[in-house]
Amino acid sequence: MKTKMAVFLLCGAALLTACAGAGGGKADSGVPEFVLTYAENQAEDYPTTQGAYKFAELVNQRTNGKIEIQVNAGGTLGDERSVIEQLQFGGVDFARVSLSPLAEFVPKLNVLQMPYLYTGPEHMWRVLEGKIGDDFMNSFGDSNLIPLSWYDAGARNFYNSVRPIETLEDIRGMNIRVQESELMVDTIKALGANPVPMAYGDVYSGLQTGKIDGAENNWPSYESTRHYEVAGYYTIDEHTRVPELQLVAQSTWDKLSPEYQNIIRECAQESAVYERKLWQEREKISEQKIREAGCVITELSAEEKARFQDAVSPMYELYCADYVDIIDQIVAAGK
Ligand code: GCU
Repeated sequence: MKTKMAVFLLCGAALLTACAGAGGGKADSGVPEFVLTYAENQAEDYPTTQGAYKFAELVNQRTNGKIEIQVNAGGTLGDERSVIEQLQFGGVDFARVSLSPLAEFVPKLNVLQMPYLYTGPEHMWRVLEGKIGDDFMNSFGDSNLIPLSWYDAGARNFYNSVRPIETLEDIRGMNIRVQESELMVDTIKALGANPVPMAYGDVYSGLQTGKIDGAENNWPSYESTRHYEVAGYYTIDEHTRVPELQLVAQSTWDKLSPEYQNIIRECAQESAVYERKLWQEREKISEQKIREAGCVITELSAEEKARFQDAVSPMYELYCADYVDIIDQIVAAGK
């Protein structure tokens, strides 16, 4: 217990309870009962960050100022892996993270981000918003993490500073940065390239110094981080759609009254609707900006795409052997 307390204090626990008792509504008007932290690794104007601000605003309004959520954007609370760890012991109260690093903590989530799984955004959203998505939300077990709502992050494509990737041979031997995810490491190996796991915030300098030849991400990330300035070859292959989640720390959750919990769930959902709208707009804006910047944009031919798909197909056996029925259901939802 002592050690636990020490860890809690040492890590600058984010939960400040100005008043004892959760959701009692006894604090003076305007004085928050809870001041909670929210970690976000994207820039201020990015759709997910704007979603976080919307969430914080809604929660504040609906609790009459009793819950204040402070959004920390730009990765100031740490990279995604460390944010997830902090959530697990309550050092951070809320976060929006990508499913890739999250699946290292809740492995079943890999199923939702398998390579070339979805036919497009509609397919992915049908899955996430239906029974399958709900079942995943309910399978966080003893992770100490509580999922609140899905956020959009589009499709990921390869980019690099060396040459246009038009064929499978073109990517062979390249050092490609990946998220801190075993699935992504194995996927890149299956394509014949060398995976380099690295935090998002280190990718720009990795590209600039030549430590990596390339990376992969959606249009808004490629644009917002200015990676396109140092790696101007972008290949649209949409090898994966990695959804994102807003999460709350179990220890924070347990301190809130059912009334506050309901408000938080409801506001997280509403912020997600808002984020998805911003996402669709931003995807177009980012693509246009990148094209105007003169980047070389390559579309994989159907034939080449099939070769990429074939190359990574062993990932299904490796990561989804226990979930074949769910994969079948996901595939069926795309037809
Ligand atoms: C996307 C995602 C981030 C993630 C990043 C990455 O941009 O929104 O949360 O950190 O991919 O590649 O690491």
